[in-house]
Amino acid sequence: MTVTILGLGYIGLPTGSMLALAGHEVNGYDVSADVRARLRAGAGHIAELEVRTLVAQALATGKLRIVDDVTPADAYLVCVPTPNASDGRPDLSYVQAAAKAIAARLRGGELIVLESTVPPGTLERIFVPALRAAGIDPDSVALAHCPERVIPGAIVRELRENSRIIGGRRPQDAKRARALYASFVTGGLFETDATTAELVKVVENTFRDVNIALANELAVLCEELGVDAWEVIRLANEHPRVNILSPGPGVGGHCIPIDPQFLADAHPFTTELIQTARRVNARMPNHIVRLVRDHVPSGERRKIALLGASYKADVDDSRESPTERLVALFEEHGYEVAVYDPIARGFKHGLCPDLESAAQDAEAIVLVVNHAIFATIEPERVGALMRGRVLVDARNFFDAEKWRRAGFLVAALGKRAARALGPTYQHAAL
Ligand SMILES: NC(=O)c1ccc[n+]([C@@H]2O[C@H](COP(=O)([O-])OP(=O)(O)OC[C@H]3O[C@@H](n4cnc5c(N)ncnc54)[C@H](O)[C@@H]3O)[C@@H](O)[C@H]2O)c1
Repeated sequence: MTVTILGLGYIGLPTGSMLALAGHEVNGYDVSADVRARLRAGAGHIAELEVRTLVAQALATGKLRIVDDVTPADAYLVCVPTPNASDGRPDLSYVQAAAKAIAARLRGGELIVLESTVPPGTLERIFVPALRAAGIDPDSVALAHCPERVIPGAIVRELRENSRIIGGRRPQDAKRARALYASFVTGGLFETDATTAELVKVVENTFRDVNIALANELAVLCEELGVDAWEVIRLANEHPRVNILSPGPGVGGHCIPIDPQFLADAHPFTTELIQTARRVNARMPNHIVRLVRDHVPSGERRKIALLGASYKADVDDSRESPTERLVALFEEHGYEVAVYDPIARGFKHGLCPDLESAAQDAEAIVLVVNHAIFATIEPERVGALMRGRVLVDARNFFDAEKWRRAGFLVAALGKRAARALGPTYQHAAL
């Protein structure tokens, strides 16, 4: 088949590459001239090594071509962003723009697949009307929603191996879409209707958000009770039907914190639990700041070094990361903040070039993201650069004893020492 991909980001680019390597003729189109230019120059803009290798292979076959406009094809895959706008409501303007661009190329009989994560009902209530407005009878094409479920860090493997939910506007549309995915997916292919597929995707991320909220609430509760939340969770998870996720400094990325809002926004009176979970998770950066304030007085421009800017471990993506919120909160409380992350890209508050410059004269270090590389940090070496010796570990990642031996006061999220210690901070210079 000839396939045109709209949106060459984390999802569209590797998916287009997979399709090209499966033998399809793929036109990759992105509205961003910069994205197109970087791909033509061979570099690509996604850091994940397996993605870069896959894209290079696909480009080398000549079956993946970067194009400057939406090129007519047998099938169209829409992989455009679906962020929340500043008012917290889903921004579906990219989806509408894609529908309009495709409509102008249609001759009848094409397959159009919406892969972007969308509020349930979007295909029927946004996409179809956009086609109609452009003079297209939606019954003259096959329409499906096939949500993407990959995890950054393992995109290539999961694109191939994950099962896919294939929601057709009509049953025959699902069958058409299934045939396309069968050409590169080894996981199960499950056909359903479009709105069900839309809800399944959003519910998957909502499940994780609610479960993380339980872990986060438990972490704060355990601090009050004086027990170790990490041990509580580990032991509770020994139960065959319990699987509590890990607490942390907040939920980041452009999926898990966003998707539950798609439901809350459209159904405010039937999503009480979902909205509460969102609030619990959104409050976690405030809690981390509170842990720091227990040991380092605020309002005196004291320096705090944050380790990690991406939204989760070992990925470069810093969109919606808890570190963003932490920087703003620490600054509001009168601290000076330095952020070090050797992996993250595009962090809007800027990054220190190395660990030393972040730690220099800092009063406290806060471990925000558990990048594997941070395990190599030597507490003595870092401590020698700092003015104070406080470590707040928001992931229970570091070997606390090792840091204590280096003279650090260690407070970890969800651990009994965290709240029991009180304001014991000692300024190194005193
Ligand atoms: N990244 C993930 O891990 C992931 C996982 C599952 C689902 N999703 C969903 O997939 C969708 C895409 O996410 P992403 O991470 O690939 O986004 P992205 O921001 O990395 O890439 C989207 C690309 O689309 C381009 N674009 C915007 N409007 C366009 C248009 N009208 N025509 C052509 N290109 C256009 C942008 O320039 C951008 O390069 C979103 O709905 C997201 O929620 C992402």
